[in-house]
Amino acid sequence: MNFHILTLFPEMIMQGIGTSITGRAIEAGHISVEAVNIRDYSDNKHCKVDDYPYGGGAGMVMYAEPVFRAYEAVREKIGKTPRVLYMTPQGRVFRQEMAEELSKEEDLIFLCGHYEGIDERVLEEIVTDHVSIGDYVLTGGELPAMVMIDAISRLVPGVLNNDASAEIESFHDNLLEYPQYSRPEEWRGKKVPEVLMSGHHANIEKWRREQSLIRTMLRRPDLLENANLTKQERVLVDK
Ligand code: ADE
Repeated sequence: MNFHILTLFPEMIMQGIGTSITGRAIEAGHISVEAVNIRDYSDNKHCKVDDYPYGGGAGMVMYAEPVFRAYEAVREKIGKTPRVLYMTPQGRVFRQEMAEELSKEEDLIFLCGHYEGIDERVLEEIVTDHVSIGDYVLTGGELPAMVMIDAISRLVPGVLNNDASAEIESFHDNLLEYPQYSRPEEWRGKKVPEVLMSGHHANIEKWRREQSLIRTMLRRPDLLENANLTKQERVLVDK
């Protein structure tokens, strides 16, 4: 899986994604991350990439041409036309299902804006998906791109050492994950639930499923509508 990020702050991307699990995934060749500096594609002798908006108003708007050239450079390099995800609070909200869908692509281009945004004409020309990571406004698209790349990467085969863990965790079946415990058996008077020490796998599975349901009901009841539940569970949560 190859991620290409069009940005004015490539070092931000490389520092963020080059660390920890995603950093190891790059080293192991499961993913590649290329941050393309839009400023390198400026046609202006001062490498200017933005200007005041026509019609007035606050902030600066990024020029269309450098963004388009950076995009063309990626397309020429890889010899295909991948999906282009524009990071914007005006987009479709990113969820686990979108991460799953995108993890099947071979290449993805992320377009990160800054300031007041990017000239609409280049967005019309190249963007296939407008994506938001949530209903709040950030200063730029770099953090959203990193959030998405992280969530997508962990679904790429080989990135997590344990294949199962990508599936079991929160949002699989649209339920939150059950609580986890490790040593010691007793910590400051708080004991690990007995069933987890029993070695009885069926009981452990049952307990974990119940905990997932309870957690989801308490913390994220909005998820239950689309949760993958048995008939019996559905009756229980609908009570
Ligand atoms: N750019 C600024 N805020 C954003 C958000 N919430 N999601 C995606 N891109 C953004």
